Amino acid sequence: MKDILRQAVPPLLGWYRVHKRTLPWRGTHDAYKVWVSEIMLQQTRVEAVKEYYVRFLERFPTAKELAEASEDEVLKYWEGLGYYSRARNLHRAAKVIAKDGFPKTFEGVRALAGIGDYTAGAICSIAYDLPCPAVDGNVLRILTRLLADGRNIDDNKTKAEFSALLKEVYPKEAGDFCQALMELGAIVCVPNGAPLCGECPWAGLCRAHLENREEEFPVRAEKRARKIQHLTVLVLERNGKYALQKRAEKGLLAGLWQFPLFEEAEPAAFGEVVKVKSAKHIFTHVEWHMTGYFVRAKECFSDYVWVTKEELKSGYALPSAFKAFKDWLK
Ligand code: ADE
Repeated sequence: MKDILRQAVPPLLGWYRVHKRTLPWRGTHDAYKVWVSEIMLQQTRVEAVKEYYVRFLERFPTAKELAEASEDEVLKYWEGLGYYSRARNLHRAAKVIAKDGFPKTFEGVRALAGIGDYTAGAICSIAYDLPCPAVDGNVLRILTRLLADGRNIDDNKTKAEFSALLKEVYPKEAGDFCQALMELGAIVCVPNGAPLCGECPWAGLCRAHLENREEEFPVRAEKRARKIQHLTVLVLERNGKYALQKRAEKGLLAGLWQFPLFEEAEPAAFGEVVKVKSAKHIFTHVEWHMTGYFVRAKECFSDYVWVTKEELKSGYALPSAFKAFKDWLK
């Protein structure tokens, strides 16, 4: 097994140098910048991250600027990117980094708020060329195919085993190798649909391909269905101001702002309903099926903060789940 993997390293590096996408975080070894990119890329598509990354680094070019900003401002720069605890952890860790410098070892990086084995591995590989594997679902997909390996990739033990295996073949160009594995999983051995084996540097080595069994891998545990929640969203307008409420400090979208949200509500009790629309938002473990009502409110209910459109845009981070209703304010 290790032999195939060892043979697979040079063609992968050669392929990466020719075919890698130009991305705004490629070409830097600045650990702070690599860190910001890897946190943004957790659970988030490359295309979605690009713009956020550039804007974020313009405003917070080093850990010092980030550490000195308010949490509300950091969240504003994160607005729409999702998984907001990432922004809070980034802000928290920036205060440590501004004081002590960016950690130089895997253990030091791993100890920062919001960092697991994958992200610590990616940062150390890319920023410092250390042989620290970063194994996620994409890397497991390409490796289980390369080796026609039927281990269940949802088992944490599998991840640890592949990480140990990779560590033994890590070349000195660790950063390129780490990103080459990610890149192959992103643009050739793709997550949805058939892999593009005609373009793959491993086509002559890949056990799954040679046996015509690409789509039998990776082997996964059965997925649990997401819970569906039916919710009512009220966009209450009065005298050019809109009602907002802050979510609880714990749980989904903790501490962010939203339009008044109810499991059950009678919109007409708040005023005159002038528009209605439905929208869906899918989170990792739950789906929100929302019905939104635009209501001319009969009073400025004191349970809410009332803000203008401009204040909402500049000062309140409203998650993407509410985008369909925020569009009413344009
Ligand atoms: N996904 C996670 N880290 C990445 C990186 N550095 N480049 C592209 N995709 C990634």
